[in-house]
Amino acid sequence: MNKIIFAPSILSADFSHLAADMGETARAGAQYAHIDVMDGSFVPNISLGLPVIKSIRPSSDLFFDVHLMIDKPERYIERFADAGANLITFHYEATENPEECIRLIRSKKKKVGLSVKPATPIEVISPYIDKIDMLLIMTVEPGFGGQGYIESSTEKIRMARKIFEDSGIDMDIEVDGGIKIDNVNVVLDAGANVIVAGSAVYNDDIFGSTKAFMDLFKKRQG
Ligand code: DX5
Ligand code: ZN
Repeated sequence: MNKIIFAPSILSADFSHLAADMGETARAGAQYAHIDVMDGSFVPNISLGLPVIKSIRPSSDLFFDVHLMIDKPERYIERFADAGANLITFHYEATENPEECIRLIRSKKKKVGLSVKPATPIEVISPYIDKIDMLLIMTVEPGFGGQGYIESSTEKIRMARKIFEDSGIDMDIEVDGGIKIDNVNVVLDAGANVIVAGSAVYNDDIFGSTKAFMDLFKKRQG
């Protein structure tokens, strides 16, 4: 089984003390920082971009998991790589040329993530399964933190895990949206292993909330 990785999403953070709060998640054991980039076009919201990533990079050892919710991501991939991303995820629905996005990310020696929105059938990933490092299954409509988990995602995660297993590929499957301490077992049981949580972490007790997830993961992995 793939190692379980925790990726707190900074979308729900208070940006006036972002670096310190990201440090709390790291101190509690989180491995990734999930960084949501929105352009107000691919999704109906605007979040943060290159300067923010550049300025937090020197103060964090976390693996920067950059989730691009932007149209035509091929225009910006190299700049996000230079800003400090370790992994760059683009949306299948946002580009006419997924191959080019993959090529650009690889040319910068970064890990490649491919994401699908809730309504996109999982079969679309088939041509790319041996070209990516991570599949991101959106479990809410991208754009906002704090939404409820879409129940039909569970079956989609199962189907994705089966596609990879049938091909003998040990893929990281990330899930993003509506994940809380009381439903995380559902997505883990279905086959996800990279867990994003925003509002469930960036609250009054960042350390304690992160630690609760990490303890649960430890228990499951023995
Ligand atoms: C939504 C973002 C998520 C968001 C998740 O479009 O991609 O990463 O921060 O937030 P929660 O965990 O609150 O649903
Ligand atoms: Zn995200």
